[in-house]
Amino acid sequence: MKKTLVLYSSRDGQTKAIASYIASTLSETMMCDVQDLAISMDIDLANYQAVVIGASVRYGHFQRALYQFTKMNAVQLNAMPSAFFAVNLTARKPEKRTPQTNAYTRKFLLATPWQPKQCSVFAGALRYPRYGWLDKVMIKLIMKMTGGETDTTKEVEYTDWQDVGRFAQEFVRLTSSTVR
Ligand SMILES: Cc1cc2nc3c(=O)[nH]c(=O)nc-3n(C[C@H](O)[C@H](O)[C@H](O)COP(=O)(O)O)c2cc1C
Repeated sequence: MKKTLVLYSSRDGQTKAIASYIASTLSETMMCDVQDLAISMDIDLANYQAVVIGASVRYGHFQRALYQFTKMNAVQLNAMPSAFFAVNLTARKPEKRTPQTNAYTRKFLLATPWQPKQCSVFAGALRYPRYGWLDKVMIKLIMKMTGGETDTTKEVEYTDWQDVGRFAQEFVRLTSSTVR
């Protein structure tokens, strides 16, 4: 039986945690591999029946590996059940949490030849104590401008795990209706 691949691009661990959560739900009905795009892009998609890719945003951009991998593998990705999820702090506001209203996600979907059959945006985490001083200053400034948390002693997780669970269940349905 072929497996499902859950690929992620994560700098501080939140996208990795979301990818692992999705994989644990998928593992109830299918075999699953979880891999970090930053470690290797040398992946043979012929070994997989379905793919989920998740990536976080830093200073307005997803990591370059996301663009490279999805461009290199667009033909195969478009021929199989595939899903994308984006992680960022703008999405802590519900009105900026859809692929159409989340600017990073909308731009990525326009730029990549990959056409994921399912797409969601999840709010990430704000973890001031773990950031270097420059990132801390910059994020605090952005939070001040956008009405967010500015107390740099705090760690706040905005991710809606129920929403992540629904995404995984929807992917199970997509895979079972497409793969026989
Ligand atoms: C240095 C830095 C820059 C960030 N830039 C943005 C940004 O431009 N827009 C945004 O919505 N979120 C931004 N974020 C928030 C991250 O997307 C959020 O913390 C996410 O959970 C990170 O996921 P990861 O832990 O998988 O890397 C930034 C976070 C950091 C630490």
